[in-house]
Amino acid sequence: MTGRSPDDPFLGERAEGVLDDGSYEATARVVDAGSDADERTVEAALRPRRLAEFPGQPRVRDQLSLVLEAARRRDAVPDHILLSGPPGLGKTTLAMIVAAELERPIRVTSGPAIQHAGDLAAILSSLAEGEVLFLDEIHRMARAAEEMLYLAMEDFRVDVIVGKGPGATAIPLELPPFTVVGATTRSGLLPAPLRDRFGFTGHLDYYNAVDLAAILTRSARLLAVEATDDGLAEIAGRSRGTPRIANRLLRRVRDYAQVHGQGVVDRAAAQAALELFDVDGLGLDRLDRGVLEALCKRFGGGPVGLSTLAVAVGEEADTVETVAEPYLVREGFLVRTPRGRAASALAWEHLGLTPPSGTSAPTLPLDDGEGRFG
Ligand SMILES: Nc1ncnc2c1ncn2[C@@H]1O[C@H](COP(=O)(O)OP(=O)(O)OP(=O)(O)O)[C@@H](O)[C@H]1O
Ligand SMILES: [Mg+2]
Repeated sequence: MTGRSPDDPFLGERAEGVLDDGSYEATARVVDAGSDADERTVEAALRPRRLAEFPGQPRVRDQLSLVLEAARRRDAVPDHILLSGPPGLGKTTLAMIVAAELERPIRVTSGPAIQHAGDLAAILSSLAEGEVLFLDEIHRMARAAEEMLYLAMEDFRVDVIVGKGPGATAIPLELPPFTVVGATTRSGLLPAPLRDRFGFTGHLDYYNAVDLAAILTRSARLLAVEATDDGLAEIAGRSRGTPRIANRLLRRVRDYAQVHGQGVVDRAAAQAALELFDVDGLGLDRLDRGVLEALCKRFGGGPVGLSTLAVAVGEEADTVETVAEPYLVREGFLVRTPRGRAASALAWEHLGLTPPSGTSAPTLPLDDGEGRFG
């Protein structure tokens, strides 16, 4: 990855790692789950602001719309809302929409930022009535803070501990009613008492190609990119059912069309650009294929433990588990068995490999369909 020219257009948003010798530190993994400041700015600009402009997830949208409308009619704060699902499907977007629909301010923080109960107490005690508290990655919050949150969510009260040791006293502090919107990619990791405090849980699922095409049409308009329907359909079909990936690929195809074509995102530009960026015909990216290749070529199709598999592809187990695996399982490439992950017949076929004789590659995924993997 070194020696790329500094004005290489395909490095896109990641072109910031210019080293002293003019080479790049950045890799061109534009379709991975990482994001940087620029990326977040573009994402924010592309976020739908209201439920009515949010394409896809009809079930969650209808449910959410009902919960919010009922609260509005009662002139009360709605129940706490939990949004779960793989990365990039719209959890943060929906949290912002909840606040917008309620016409209430939103306070944004995340599990990793709350390492002590005191961090949470400070936030809770400063909430205004009806405010929305968005807790991203809520499964990564410290245990002690979790317990404080149960109480606050249920009784709108926190116990502020004053002093230390035997002389410490808990002073109860009443809170005005507010709404917690929690987001998690791993709802299975939430302790049951916390999960139970949410009156409504929306499970986001991968988008179909039609909804993704609608999202892309909107994004192309906002980015002032000229695009043909078949060009957008091509991108939609290769976006792993994920709007974040769809939007990112759109920007790469736009780059390609600007440099090699007339600036129009059409099917030919989409195909050429996606090939350049290692996104295959079914939308699998380098990480996805890396996982399948490791499974088939190094472990004879598995089963193999998640951590071993992650080491083989040079990624964190968590990345493999939350980013690559849910989609591979859902599309039937990867199977979760009690003894580890295994490649399905489809995986061997997709990689153009022949499964070793004598093994019967399982064809049906065994997971619970919610992307929860022990
Ligand atoms: N239904 C949708 N319509 C249009 N754009 C969407 C939709 N869902 C998500 N997006 C876009 O995809 C990007 C990622 O969405 P968002 O940040 O809400 O995902 P997320 O579920 O919070 O992901 P993560 O788990 O990584 O935090 C945003 O730019 C957003 O604009
Ligand atoms: Mg998010």
